[in-house]
Amino acid sequence: MNIKVTGGGVIKGHVACSGAKNASIPLLCASLLAKGKVLLRNVPRIRDVLDICSILKHLDCKVVFKGHTMLIDNTNLKYKPLLFEECQRIRGSYYFIGVFLTLFSKCEILLPGGCKIGARPIDIHLEAFTDLGYEYTITDQVLSVYKKKAVKEVHLTLKNKSVGASLNACFAGLSLQQFVMDNVLFEPEGKDVIEFLNQLGYPVLFSNEKITYQKKNLEFKLTKHTVVSDRIEALTYMVLGLLAGDITIKKVETKDLELPLTILKKAGFLISFTENEIKAKKSKGNPMEITTEVYPGFPTDAQSLFGVLYTRTNGQSSMQENIFENRMHIYYDLMDSGVECLIKNNKAIVEGTDQIQLKNYKAYDLRHGAALLLLALANEGETLISNFDYVLRGYDDILNKVKTLGGKIEIIS
Ligand code: EPU
Repeated sequence: MNIKVTGGGVIKGHVACSGAKNASIPLLCASLLAKGKVLLRNVPRIRDVLDICSILKHLDCKVVFKGHTMLIDNTNLKYKPLLFEECQRIRGSYYFIGVFLTLFSKCEILLPGGCKIGARPIDIHLEAFTDLGYEYTITDQVLSVYKKKAVKEVHLTLKNKSVGASLNACFAGLSLQQFVMDNVLFEPEGKDVIEFLNQLGYPVLFSNEKITYQKKNLEFKLTKHTVVSDRIEALTYMVLGLLAGDITIKKVETKDLELPLTILKKAGFLISFTENEIKAKKSKGNPMEITTEVYPGFPTDAQSLFGVLYTRTNGQSSMQENIFENRMHIYYDLMDSGVECLIKNNKAIVEGTDQIQLKNYKAYDLRHGAALLLLALANEGETLISNFDYVLRGYDDILNKVKTLGGKIEIIS
């Protein structure tokens, strides 16, 4: 899908955050662990979620998705190899592996896909599965994981920090009598999933990079859970407000955004916030120096968005991307648009400027696409953005939300 954006107008009004993509995906997969019905509220209507729903339906689950509420009934769930094309369209399909290992002691799945922001191996996941008593093979894009030996208790340490591997290893460990996992990483979205597991009756305790689990007899019931709000969506609209108008962002957990909010305040941008609301007004700020780090450090998912905001600083700002190897596309677009920009070793140095010549752009990943939209809305001129489907994978109703704020966007094809 391509869009045409007419930029330079005032973007003004209120917008409410939807539920977080990176919580919804593992929550939907973990709903299979309920062996019954699960009601999820505040589920974003995004393409990645629809792909997971479609996989659940292939597995004979009933899924009713009305508005932002989803009822999943997995009474008829049975084992099937996960050889569905949806598994390769998205990254988060890997969460089915851990869930299947707990439910069926095996899993065959097409290797996960997702945004091409780096090599994105899954070796940390696989090593954890091995520690939990499984072995695996990979043949022709199909990963097969099988039980090798019965393990009742284990104490394992993830070899590196990984959001996905931490949850996946945890899902896979739920059939054990007990486990301890060290070096785990849970962002607010992962913590939301741990809370859900506890609601289901799995006593998973998390503190200081460690999870502990001791199995108990489960009593399954209809479980209701509300998905945590999307902190990256909140940052997206906040940066849009700072670039182009006056936006109040509602239904946000500002406690999850402590570092980005502190950085912006310190730089002098016009933001104010309470526990669940952020106000962002068009402004200029002092240069910033940011390095992406694992939570609670600066989120890699907001890096491209802040790159666009750097054009509104009075001087040179820098961004070092430390999590993914291939997430610097926006800085090349800025350079093409007349911004002075130096890019080397995943570090970009951007000179603030009012002289931006908009071009036509192509989105290469979800957050890159969102950053392009902000760039186009914030500057005078007409722009085409191709590959905009990437953005619809992760932003709920973004076209309507932006139009309601006064943004001029047209779908071209
Ligand atoms: N890594 C490995 N081996 C592994 C797993 C990860 O080397 O087995 C590396 C990755 O290649 C990366 C780093 O470790 O360089 C961190 O990866 P992590 O596993 O933490 O990230 P992820 O689970 O692949 C999730 C989100 C991403 C988000 C990151 C960091 C989902 C489906 N994806 O990815 O979301 O950027 O955590 O917060 O939850 C996005 O929303 O745009 C997005 C890409």
